[in-house]
Amino acid sequence: MKVTIDGHEIEVAPGTTILQAARMIGGEVVPPAMCYYSKLKGTGGKCRCCLVDVTKGSEADPRPMPKLMASCVTGCQDGMVVASKASERVKEARNAVTEFLLINHPLDCPVCDQAGECDLQNLSFEHGKLQQRFIEDKRTFEPEDIGDKIQLHMNRCIVCQRCVEVADQLTDGRVHGVLNRGDHSQISTCVSAAIDNEFSGNMIDVCPVGALTDKTFRFKSRVWFNKPFDAHRDCDKCCGKTTVWMFGNEIQRVTARKDEFHEVEEFICNTCRFDKKDVADWVIEGPRKFEKDSVINQNKYFGKTDKVVIDTEKGILQGRDIDRKKISMAEIDYNEKIDGNPVNSKKNG
Ligand code: SF4
Ligand code: FES
Repeated sequence: MKVTIDGHEIEVAPGTTILQAARMIGGEVVPPAMCYYSKLKGTGGKCRCCLVDVTKGSEADPRPMPKLMASCVTGCQDGMVVASKASERVKEARNAVTEFLLINHPLDCPVCDQAGECDLQNLSFEHGKLQQRFIEDKRTFEPEDIGDKIQLHMNRCIVCQRCVEVADQLTDGRVHGVLNRGDHSQISTCVSAAIDNEFSGNMIDVCPVGALTDKTFRFKSRVWFNKPFDAHRDCDKCCGKTTVWMFGNEIQRVTARKDEFHEVEEFICNTCRFDKKDVADWVIEGPRKFEKDSVINQNKYFGKTDKVVIDTEKGILQGRDIDRKKISMAEIDYNEKIDGNPVNSKKNG
């Protein structure tokens, strides 16, 4: 089947979704995705970030689809033509969805461990507004303890339900899920039971925001101060292939390896993630390469940067000139009066 996205034609197998086809093309045409996760079945269709405009349904039925479609759950048809980033309508819709997601999301990036690798931050950077139109109070939740390894910060949750799918598909006893409906929806353990399954830590990796973070790494460092290295170890529970985040010689955090779409390559077990923080536990392969735009990529930009010219001498002289004007009495008009009184009464008197 042939499908065209933003002018790029690609051949795909039946059953491929528009989002998957866009990922095969890569680059700018790839719609953002906050709930779809290719490694988890049944994800997608919840956040509406990935909306696209289907301008031609198929070769057999070329009518455009009247509404914007969620690309992660819409299958490709032969001859389909799709507008993603190229469409103004799509851009407006993504801006609106971003604004909607931010209605209740706290602006606590300066203290959030996810900052720097947060999908919502990236989405806001491209589609967010500078102003907030929402004047009502944000939705807030009482803190809930869901175990000694994972920190739940429900105020930040966008209810994408990826973590529920991890619990369903990777662990053998799901004890948490979405409680309530509408704007009361929340992720919770029904009986406040600890999530202590051996693969539960993967919820941290799939959470697109800072709602689920690693308690063993909490407030230790901003992610961009850590140096990520690919590492592996013999593990009888998982693949043992991870990224270790180092600060000097100390391993501060262990995560699964993530691809350019910010999805894990392979899920890892809690032992590798939480209990192996000694350099001797790992075979370090080398620095981790990131393809995704991220603050973690600092100093690794591919784009050409303009040379910064600082003319110190000129700057200093200019500064001095401005200061001199500010403090010099010579600049004051002695004849000027304020409220009928001369500014310099001595000279005028
Ligand atoms: S806690 Fe994170 S992964 Fe789970 S539903 Fe909320 S945002 Fe999604
Ligand atoms: S990624 Fe498609 S609806 Fe969320």
